[in-house]
Amino acid sequence: MLRFARAVGVLLLFGVTQTPVRAQGVASNDERYTIIPRPSLLEPRDGAFRLQANTAVLVSASDSMLGHQLARDLAPATGFALRVQVGDAPDGVRTNTDAPRIVLRRDPAREALGREGYALTVSPTEVRIVASDAPGLFYGVQSLRQLLPAAIYRSARQNAVAWTIPAVHIEDTPRFSWRGAHLDVARHFMPVDFVKRWIDLLAMHKLNTFHWHLTEDQGWRIAINKYPRLTDIGGCRERTLLGAYTTSEATRRYDEARHCGFYTQDDIREVVQYAAERHITVVPEIEMPGHAQAMLAAYPELGVYPDSVIKPMEVWGVSDFILNVEESTIAFMHDVLTEVLELFPSPFIHVGGDEAKKAQWIASPRVQQRMRELGVKDEHELQSWFIRRMDTFLTARGRRLIGWDEILEGGLAPNATVMSWRGTAGAIAAARQGHDVVMAPTSHTYFDYYQSQDHSTEPRAFGGFLPLDTVYAYEPIPPELTTEQSRHVLGAQAQHWTEYMRTPRHVEYMAFPRLSALAEVVWTPAARKDFAHFRRRLDTHMTRLAALGVNARPVVPTGTPQPAR
Ligand code: ACM
Repeated sequence: MLRFARAVGVLLLFGVTQTPVRAQGVASNDERYTIIPRPSLLEPRDGAFRLQANTAVLVSASDSMLGHQLARDLAPATGFALRVQVGDAPDGVRTNTDAPRIVLRRDPAREALGREGYALTVSPTEVRIVASDAPGLFYGVQSLRQLLPAAIYRSARQNAVAWTIPAVHIEDTPRFSWRGAHLDVARHFMPVDFVKRWIDLLAMHKLNTFHWHLTEDQGWRIAINKYPRLTDIGGCRERTLLGAYTTSEATRRYDEARHCGFYTQDDIREVVQYAAERHITVVPEIEMPGHAQAMLAAYPELGVYPDSVIKPMEVWGVSDFILNVEESTIAFMHDVLTEVLELFPSPFIHVGGDEAKKAQWIASPRVQQRMRELGVKDEHELQSWFIRRMDTFLTARGRRLIGWDEILEGGLAPNATVMSWRGTAGAIAAARQGHDVVMAPTSHTYFDYYQSQDHSTEPRAFGGFLPLDTVYAYEPIPPELTTEQSRHVLGAQAQHWTEYMRTPRHVEYMAFPRLSALAEVVWTPAARKDFAHFRRRLDTHMTRLAALGVNARPVVPTGTPQPAR
């Protein structure tokens, strides 16, 4: 009787989830599948798989961690302790009486999927994810989680939910290899727990690059053993400007509260490992030669005015302070990078290079003399000389330098990759010179910009206006590039500068759901992008984010007033 009742229940449930007849114009058939980012290919199939307490996860020894990760992720909401069966025995043929199972397998014959692609097949008796490599298998699991009811993302048992997965066949590979999100933890320090949550949210969206902006005029956030003053002095500012940035010193008001924080090297190792377990590369950014006021507060001898008393910056905007160009300063930065390389396995190391004001170099007789010695003709070339010294250092150690597009101005270092933020001109110039580029233009990827034109209804933001549909419409390949040149576009990323984001909750408000849209920009084939389709899937996705407690901005038509925060 019990079994019969359950079977009827399942049938009824299938009836609901599979109903192909929908209100006119509301949803196409494949919108039963609300995966974000949208897969490259998705074939709806009949029937559904029902996750049950006796479902087993079958996985090879090489992927046992992923199998356990999946079982762990599914446990809180379902209350199931799924059995993870590790081994390489043949999977065998299914019969209808067998317990349903989830199979995760690598298949070298599927190398066309690339490292990050996967195939996911759901039938009533089996979920099978196949990939040629570990990242693909991981992304297949992320899609599987999104095929379950959104309540799967909740952290306590959901008694009333039937854990069904609609049958489907998916073949999915990413469009770009650099799918990123940047986070500035220097303007406002973000605790390790939040950084790990951030990584989880990136992984959920199949983003694979976390650009960690660790140093700024307002704070130095990474412990460097050789130079402890960087965090002892550079890790704290005495007070912080209240309200919007103003150039008028007389009208400025401050919070009169110390703002401190830095990551120990153990913290960094933990974050890097946590990210690696989610197939995310952490790209550290150490700013030079500008955005260096906190560093100069700690070690004024690195600057142009070594006898000055310098404090970490307490207002926003760009500091006039800049590093000097002595060999001892180059050696200091090499020492810092030496420790950075030990902590971060990332092939790319970001050295900033943006907004380095040259006034102090122009005013300094010593710097001018050095320029003559070095035979550089102007301060832009001097900055390029500085960046080249880092490029040589990193290249010799098997790493690749990346910097903001200002590193083009005095001539690009031979192995540099350019992160193009001031529009696309930097990307176009660099790609034409045969350099790789990452797209990060303010117009589409600066998530510190307002999400409404009515600023009075939003928390204070940097300025600008960057609504969800504009993010979604972004095309990372500049039309000026030839097909050959466009291969240099590695991908794109979203920027989260935190001058006006004091808390993790505020970061989440600015990031989501815009980051969900950007995930589709960098993952989904251009021909499969469709804002209306995305917007409908987003309704479910917002429920997922809510289940995770993410403080996403509600999706409302552009310009609709929001409650003030
Ligand atoms: C930047 O926004 N200064 C890269």
